[in-house]
Amino acid sequence: MKINKRKLSLKRFVLKIFYFFIKIITIIRINSDPEYPSQNYLLRKYKKKQLDDCLDYHKKNIEKSVLVSKDFIREYSIKKALSLGLVESKLFLEFGVFKGTSINFFSNFLNENQIIYGFDTFTGLPEDWSGMGSIKGSMSLDGKLPKVKKNVKLIEGLIEDNLINFLNTNKEEIVFVHIDTDLATTQSFILKNIKNRLANGAILLFDDFYNIDSWLATVKSLEEEFSQDQFEYLAFAVNSTEVCLRFIKN
Ligand SMILES: C[S@@+](CC[C@H](N)C(=O)[O-])C[C@H]1O[C@@H](n2cnc3c(N)ncnc32)[C@H](O)[C@@H]1O
Repeated sequence: MKINKRKLSLKRFVLKIFYFFIKIITIIRINSDPEYPSQNYLLRKYKKKQLDDCLDYHKKNIEKSVLVSKDFIREYSIKKALSLGLVESKLFLEFGVFKGTSINFFSNFLNENQIIYGFDTFTGLPEDWSGMGSIKGSMSLDGKLPKVKKNVKLIEGLIEDNLINFLNTNKEEIVFVHIDTDLATTQSFILKNIKNRLANGAILLFDDFYNIDSWLATVKSLEEEFSQDQFEYLAFAVNSTEVCLRFIKN
């Protein structure tokens, strides 16, 4: 009897080892063979297609632009806007403030009389970011405004509710815009409403413009409002998704 029990547990042990190795081999197969129908197969293919299309579209724009690091593109863009001169009485705007990291950064390059205005709900995204991972309410600060520098003014609430009124009360030309709202619908709304107020040479810095699955929606919102000869690509961030454009008034 004892010998039979021992044989049985040895058999079970060998089977366990066998199934363990089958599991390992399956995991290796799924991850090494892109054609293997794993759970991620379609999404991986989708993402590759999005990025390949993005490269096809932007190849000529990248060739014409300067390629700068993620850390530098923000400095590059705000300095370009300041180099326009006569910027004391112009508007600097940021759409999508969250914790204030980027708006505080830009404000360092402005003097105390140059205000940068930041628009945000401070309760997070007003809707799901389609095709991406962020859902409605992501990045919420529960309505608590972040700490900002003296030359930063925050405009709390939906951009769609506040921008038109803001532009009616602030009649200056716009020289700098940082668009970082994630949602393409909001980007379209912003571009539609600011386009007639942009100074010649105004700088538009987009946070999620290329190298990202959602690139096409952003390009579409730009092309809906501006013709190809109304903007010029200046810089692409090599290790992120940011792109800097210059508006050309014609
Ligand atoms: C990626 S975060 C901004 C990050 C910030 N620019 C930085 O780099 O520090 C996006 C922000 O956009 C805001 N946002 C998105 N759509 C908005 C809308 N329609 N109105 C107001 N705020 C919006 C969200 O609340 C969120 O805080």
